[in-house]
Amino acid sequence: MGNEFTAAELLARVNDSHSAAGDERVRTITARIVSDLFRTIEELDVSANEFWAAADWLARLGASGQVGLITAGLGFDRLLDIRADEADRRAGRAAGTPRAIEGPLYVAGAPLSKYETRLDEGQPRGEVLVMEGRVLDEHGRAVAGAMVDVWHANENGRYSHFDPEQAEYALRRRIQTDAQGRYRFRSFIPPGYAIPPGSPTAELFEALGRHGHRPAHIHFLVAASGQRLLTTQINIPGDTFLDDDFAFATRDGLVVSLEPGTPVSGYESLGVTRPFTRVRFDFVLQPALTEDESKPLARMARVTA
Ligand SMILES: [Fe+2]
Repeated sequence: MGNEFTAAELLARVNDSHSAAGDERVRTITARIVSDLFRTIEELDVSANEFWAAADWLARLGASGQVGLITAGLGFDRLLDIRADEADRRAGRAAGTPRAIEGPLYVAGAPLSKYETRLDEGQPRGEVLVMEGRVLDEHGRAVAGAMVDVWHANENGRYSHFDPEQAEYALRRRIQTDAQGRYRFRSFIPPGYAIPPGSPTAELFEALGRHGHRPAHIHFLVAASGQRLLTTQINIPGDTFLDDDFAFATRDGLVVSLEPGTPVSGYESLGVTRPFTRVRFDFVLQPALTEDESKPLARMARVTA
């Protein structure tokens, strides 16, 4: 009974040893990941310096709060959506509006309005945008009282809450649809943005020779009783990175049409005084199969709920 191991013997010990029941699922997944990493180190002859540089990078990544950036940038967020789409197709579930990644920058509890609101809090900047439409069920019927939770970056490509220079909930609002399922909001067309330079995420992307740009987009969570929570984004057409998003989040059905020169009439309550750019977009929800599916919870809140 020696304590000298070959790499294979060590791996077996790491994966097999346990003195309590633990969690079988966690053990299985951990064993796979550890096995794959052992293999990577052996086959690519990873040096001690390379290994510890990676460990240091992971620690800095966690400390910087950028884990959610790396998961998107390495394709995991989109992978989960692809798998959810595949599962829906297998189950014959209604298509609805395509899902898109949530991203790491959602904040719950944004100010709530009925039918219409301004995201830009009365400070005109950039090109005025009014987005409007309806929330519909799979049969095209209006969903009254649905919650449209919307957020986007400011003119510098930064999000309130994570950017100390912005007011709380700036460019974040929740809008409850009216009896016809309608919503509308005024804001400005947000720019695209890039991962913060000098950050652990940027460091890896530099080493990979990849850019960290995201095309201009607006995020949504759309929730309604009896309907499956929809997490999605719309993309602004014409962006350089529309088809080269570092987070792989663009989807064909989510690139909206801009209608510049839309007349003011009927939009006065949003404070518009000149022709503006309108986007019309209806959100089509899937019926929820379980109560859990309809819960208006962002991804992290869902796993800790
Ligand atoms: Fe975003």
